[in-house]
Amino acid sequence: MTDDLPLAGRGCVVTGGSRGIGAAVVRLALAQGADVVFGYHSDKDRARTLADELGAAYPDQRCVPLYAHVADTDEAERFAVAALGHLDRFDVLVNNAGVTRDTLFARMTPQQWREVIGTNLDSMYTVTKPLLMPLVKQRGGAIINIASSSGLHGIPSQTAYSAAKAGVIGFTKALAKEIGARGVTVNAVAPGLIETDMTAAIPPDKTEFLKSLIPGHAFGTPQDVAHLVCFLASDRARYITGQAIEVSGGLVV
Ligand SMILES: NC(=O)c1ccc[n+]([C@@H]2O[C@H](COP(=O)([O-])OP(=O)(O)OC[C@H]3O[C@@H](n4cnc5c(N)ncnc54)[C@H](OP(=O)(O)O)[C@@H]3O)[C@@H](O)[C@H]2O)c1
Repeated sequence: MTDDLPLAGRGCVVTGGSRGIGAAVVRLALAQGADVVFGYHSDKDRARTLADELGAAYPDQRCVPLYAHVADTDEAERFAVAALGHLDRFDVLVNNAGVTRDTLFARMTPQQWREVIGTNLDSMYTVTKPLLMPLVKQRGGAIINIASSSGLHGIPSQTAYSAAKAGVIGFTKALAKEIGARGVTVNAVAPGLIETDMTAAIPPDKTEFLKSLIPGHAFGTPQDVAHLVCFLASDRARYITGQAIEVSGGLVV
């Protein structure tokens, strides 16, 4: 590790890395010296374009896009095994893939509930399970799970999402205690409202209301989140584990 390249030589796996917060993490991890395998789900061309751009910018590092469906146990295992095959060493897992299906609970369909729980919470099992033992055996590494302010505070029209992200935080704290003695840290990052496709889907009048709940009256950027994720992925954060850290500009829900 150098001051400029705190992730030099580290192998990172990022789910949902083709856009939004995940893509910002992929970019910053490469800029900080890491090799990165990232998952995409629906948009192969976007993933390929990002990988080509970053491959040209960092020709001595690996940047590999792989298909992943994190809500499916078999698909997630295939992704994890393939990801390990592309890396000389594996040090960091960023569980970032997520979806929202905002609606009042009274109107929520079983499918909406399952999609949200499957992608945001089941993925903690499906992706982490096949990637855990390499970190434990190596006696070192970091797992960073992307939660949400919604999981900390509860947000109306997000009952499934709040439940899933609260689950992510519980999972994070329990796993941190299980494997702390093996030198592996496990932390959650809880973004508030960040400018990505996810928040672009919010109607304009609701967006203005949400901004009024933030002291600086502005959404954060994916980079604001990526900086914390990459810090937690580095040795600089080796004594931080079992935490859920909010990146929300002081959002008061
Ligand atoms: N934006 C916010 O304000 C905010 C706030 C709090 C928490 N978060 C959390 O931050 C994370 C990233 O959110 P974002 O705003 O960057 O979202 P986004 O722009 O909508 O991107 C979501 C990412 O997840 C991937 N994905 C979706 N379903 C998947 C599946 N079944 N299997 C594998 N990958 C899947 C997508 O891949 P494809 O594009 O290939 O489909 C995409 O890369 C999520 O966990 C989200 O819950 C976001």
